[in-house]
Amino acid sequence: MPDWTKNNLPQDFSMRILIIGATGTIGKAIVTSLQGKHEVLQASRQGSHFSVDLTDPASIQALIEQVGVLNAIVSAAGETRLKPLAGLTDQDFEFCIGSKLMGQVNLIRYGLQALTDNGCITVTSGVLSQKPIPGGSAVSLTNAGLEGFVRAAALEAPRGIRINVVSPPWVNETLLSLGMPLGNGLPAATVAQAYVHSLEGTMTGEVLYP
Ligand SMILES: NC(=O)c1ccc[n+]([C@@H]2O[C@H](COP(=O)([O-])OP(=O)(O)OC[C@H]3O[C@@H](n4cnc5c(N)ncnc54)[C@H](OP(=O)(O)O)[C@@H]3O)[C@@H](O)[C@H]2O)c1
Repeated sequence: MPDWTKNNLPQDFSMRILIIGATGTIGKAIVTSLQGKHEVLQASRQGSHFSVDLTDPASIQALIEQVGVLNAIVSAAGETRLKPLAGLTDQDFEFCIGSKLMGQVNLIRYGLQALTDNGCITVTSGVLSQKPIPGGSAVSLTNAGLEGFVRAAALEAPRGIRINVVSPPWVNETLLSLGMPLGNGLPAATVAQAYVHSLEGTMTGEVLYP
């Protein structure tokens, strides 16, 4: 586990942070780890302060206009489909690419304008980009594509804005809900620390592995 206790921010620095996927397993843990110190604006399709659908570019643009100036944006959202290669349809690929890949790519594209100088955007890929499993090819495609985009987009981000992607391993809470063995999983609270590290650190264009 990397030492993520070090950062370059003053202890009392408070950010205005938009979190997409705030009601999810990882998103809730991110909110918990940031609330109190930072102003946290929570968004998802349902059940959050702000409504957004990452599959709809107009919805992302509307959210960005609605929330105003931000210091940081975090996404722990976007859906994929686990399915054997032979069973994956054109619609399955379109679904994964439209939701988790282009949803987060568009969040970065449209979100840049809302960020202060030296702001930060952190999105989410996942372990299957590096450690494939049978049935995970569309997920691996999505995650690896997002990581490639982040590495390159960070080079062109204006005004000192940083862009990173967290690649979570399986999360214990998710494995438990699926009735799967915990194996190499991590608690959501531990995974959330990678997002805090991206927000409060200095790295850009990086894939963070909790
Ligand atoms: N959990 C794991 O083991 C694990 C491991 C590796 C990677 N990941 C990745 O981490 C991310 C979060 O995973 P999770 O387990 O926390 O998921 P989750 O529990 O299903 O939560 C997903 C969150 O994203 C929101 N969301 C989903 N689709 C959205 C959309 N189109 N537009 C806006 N919000 C949307 C959901 O709220 P609404 O449904 O109300 O929109 C919810 O707040 C996913 O991209 C997942 O692939 C998860």
